[in-house]
Amino acid sequence: MAITLKNAQDIEMMRVACRLASEVLDFITPHIRAGITTGELDRLCHEYMVKEQGTVPAPLNYQPPGYPPYPKATCISVNDVICHGIPGEKVLKHGDALNIDVTVIKDGYFGDTSRMFIVGEGSILAKRLTQVTFECMWLGIRQVKPGAHLGDIGHAIQVHAEAQGYSVVREYCGHGIGQVFHEDPQILHYGRPGTGLELKAGMIFTIEPMINAGKRDIRTMPDQWTVKTRDRSLSAQWEHTVLVTDTGYDVLTVSAGTPKPPEFITQATAA
Ligand code: MF3
Ligand code: CO
Ligand code: CO
Repeated sequence: MAITLKNAQDIEMMRVACRLASEVLDFITPHIRAGITTGELDRLCHEYMVKEQGTVPAPLNYQPPGYPPYPKATCISVNDVICHGIPGEKVLKHGDALNIDVTVIKDGYFGDTSRMFIVGEGSILAKRLTQVTFECMWLGIRQVKPGAHLGDIGHAIQVHAEAQGYSVVREYCGHGIGQVFHEDPQILHYGRPGTGLELKAGMIFTIEPMINAGKRDIRTMPDQWTVKTRDRSLSAQWEHTVLVTDTGYDVLTVSAGTPKPPEFITQATAA
């Protein structure tokens, strides 16, 4: 499959879709509290997308080969769920660490982003894993510029996660995105510097590391979507959609509530 380079008009359309995806996360943030179900959070997001934004939730009925249609508007992955948690009757409790992953379609363009949330005061581990995974995402983003290689991104993420004793999930990765939800290239969250595809200005892809507190091994649940850590350890994930610019990168999934980059990014010069 070919890698699409986006033109100026594509990029403007992607900026809108990506901002809207991020605004769904801004919207849902104050609703996240002990006692609410993940199904109710999904319902609120779905309603906001359709009624307030005029966007379409990309996950709903999404059906890659070999999968059943995805039944909800968002993915909500709590504690040992790595990704693709299906919102439902699960009641959030104090200390839960969860990822909410939102992908909207606006005028045919896809915006994809996710954040971690902790209900009330999280454990030391939950806070640390969440922060380290956020840093992993940004260390990967920082590698993005024309002439860099995909292996540079993966390596930066892997080194930071493993230095903390954490592990990188290998079975799921970031992806090209545009007028297609998941397109080439695959963005692995591990790798060796200087290897893999060379980046070119106009590429748009996600960086979305999934980092486990324990071992990297996964187990898929009988619903065929929910992916958990095999050892039941905690897992965290953050996701941005990123454009390769002439000089570096531009994070497209930004809105008023987007968490600020770590200090090491604020201090350096970005795109
Ligand atoms: N948003 C996810 C990603 O980052 C994909 C979810 S597919 C679904 O690529 F069907 F599970 F929603
Ligand atoms: Co994605
Ligand atoms: Co996503």
